[in-house]
Amino acid sequence: MLATIGFQDFDGLAKSTVPPNILSDKMLDLEPALTESEAINRLKSFTDKNKVMKSYIGAGYYDTIVPPVVQRNVLENPGWYTAYTPYQAEISQGRLEMLLNFQTMVVDLTGLPMAVASLLDESTAAAEAMQMTFALKGKKAKKDKFFVSEDVHPQTIALINTRAGAIGIKVVHGKHSEIDFSAGDFCGALIQYPNTYGSVESPGESYKDFTARAHDGNAMVVAATDLMALTKMAPPSTWGADIAVGSAQRFGVPMGFGGPHAGFLSTSDQYSRKMPGRVIGVTVDTAGKPCLRMAMQTREQHIRRDKATSNICTAQALLANMAASYAIYHGPKGLQDIGGRIHALACVAHREIGKAGFKVTEEPFYDTFTVDASSKGMTAADIQAGAVSVGANVRLIDDNTVGVSMGEGITRDDVTALLKGAFGIADPDLSADDSLKEMDPSCAREGEILTHPIFHMHHSETQMLRYLKALENRDLALNHSMISLGSCTMKLNATSEMVPVTWPEICNIHPFAPHDQVQGYHEMIEDLNKDLSEITGFEAVSSQPNSGATGEYAGLLAIKDYLSSIGQGHRNICLIPKSAHGTNPASAVMAGMKVVVIENDDMGNIDYEDLLGKIAKHKDDIAAFMVTYPSTFGVFEEKIVEIIDSIHEAGGQVYMDGANMNAQCGLTSPGLIGADVCHLNLHKTFCIPHGGGGPGKRMSYCV
Ligand SMILES: Cc1ncc(COP(=O)(O)O)c(C=O)c1O
Repeated sequence: MLATIGFQDFDGLAKSTVPPNILSDKMLDLEPALTESEAINRLKSFTDKNKVMKSYIGAGYYDTIVPPVVQRNVLENPGWYTAYTPYQAEISQGRLEMLLNFQTMVVDLTGLPMAVASLLDESTAAAEAMQMTFALKGKKAKKDKFFVSEDVHPQTIALINTRAGAIGIKVVHGKHSEIDFSAGDFCGALIQYPNTYGSVESPGESYKDFTARAHDGNAMVVAATDLMALTKMAPPSTWGADIAVGSAQRFGVPMGFGGPHAGFLSTSDQYSRKMPGRVIGVTVDTAGKPCLRMAMQTREQHIRRDKATSNICTAQALLANMAASYAIYHGPKGLQDIGGRIHALACVAHREIGKAGFKVTEEPFYDTFTVDASSKGMTAADIQAGAVSVGANVRLIDDNTVGVSMGEGITRDDVTALLKGAFGIADPDLSADDSLKEMDPSCAREGEILTHPIFHMHHSETQMLRYLKALENRDLALNHSMISLGSCTMKLNATSEMVPVTWPEICNIHPFAPHDQVQGYHEMIEDLNKDLSEITGFEAVSSQPNSGATGEYAGLLAIKDYLSSIGQGHRNICLIPKSAHGTNPASAVMAGMKVVVIENDDMGNIDYEDLLGKIAKHKDDIAAFMVTYPSTFGVFEEKIVEIIDSIHEAGGQVYMDGANMNAQCGLTSPGLIGADVCHLNLHKTFCIPHGGGGPGKRMSYCV
């Protein structure tokens, strides 16, 4: 290849491509490379330090069983995990069909007629819904308050607070029954169904009455909900919710210490134009035959840019496809059996713990209830210590209260062990009849679920295998050929990199497991951060799941906070070249910045004169300059150092979009070039599979 393009060696190519003032002549100070088998052993040495426990922690993450036919043929199959974002519909019909199945499943279970083809996780889906309510009701009418029930999962509340703060939405927390919408100043409200403590509805006021009051005040209602619970419970549409959000994790996607999992969002047709992410739609091809395409993805990426209400690009396609496969394989009856069994296990445990004299949840619940440890003179820590002694974890809610949640992976023997070990019940009675599989009539689901034919066709392993293969064969992934489309596609995940993904010490770990049980994860992350620090030339590294776009957002918030800390909090202009990926302006707007566009020439180089002119014009207000390096045209901008210096001289910070980091690795680095903050998409440069638009993972860095 080098000879064809006129070079003798790689050094010659690098010298003629990377500007000399940023080309590093130093070798990276990393540990010597390992062979594949050595690397696997090294990973094992980390994961051996993780303790796999039965999880009763809940709060959005549950034990699940990945059907082996899905594990082997989707998660472990390069035909599915190496596919690229389905921008080219003609080579993506298989994935598009499975994503359409995902949408159909979410629509059916939530009862709301439009769903997106997955989001990043439950918390970010809730924040996306909040932004939808603000875009629909809030902006013009100056309704800038958003209510969040105190019974929503804590991680969702934390994320909503961050996202709202940056764009001036005022979050009001409290009991849903006490909030007053009559002044008409709320754009929306978020409640959890069932709530984080397990009750189907939070006490005080029915969700139906609450929703009617919110609607009277012209506010929208978002229900954070649970697909497994909805196999047995009335959908949120029955009491009037406008938007439903949640995670599809427990549909056959392991907990994985917190992700990746597919988030979901559904709503009614009238709000479809403001939905985040992508919607897969059915259309006809040039021969008049039905076919599928991404129907609404262009808004954020290519058209709306700085008018976007969401920065979602990577969703969680691979995990959404696993969740849809799980639903297809089990079918409506299988899912309701699993859903009913989970409920029955919770009822049995609730009955026995109550019988033993503990004060337990009184309201109807699905899979989760709380126990007041002090009612038997114990503390929550005592119960957790007892649970740990039998290889389990419960949720520590406060000093006196624990939560107990059931998942598909929990057996009767596990429950017996928990009741004995944690609650001191010597001889628990695990007897249950079929009535325990049914929900309280006040909240039970009526009618059939998953009525579309696709959920009635592939229940044997042979059928499922053939269906998955038929879809895979319609697609082009890296197991067929190179895909010359964008930076994400330049690497094939080595098989050995995929091996640990399904180890129990990686998969079966709850994100809120006690610290001492996840030492392996912590050491692995620290080790990775150390190497990434060296590779990027930055001092500090933070690691969060999800996507490049969330990295951009986190990085811009870090810049904002830094500027405030040095008395420059008024700076709010973000300069972004026209060639930038659509998520850059969208993230800047979500971080509360105002975007000023810098022109490019036809080769993708930044128009330096235009940049200098805009720096001069906005000098005192420039917060940041966002630059992708090399650019989205593949150009190593010759003037990059001068450009960065001019931004610094004007008092701004430089954010580097590291989506193309694979072209910098070992040759130069964001730190060396002079950037201040950067994100890396580990699903692009490093070994996380892209899987047709997620899983994503990003790290942000700062000097
Ligand atoms: C240059 C660039 N920046 C940002 C992104 C957004 O990354 P993600 O899809 O992980 O959010 C992409 C994705 O294709 C990209 O190519």
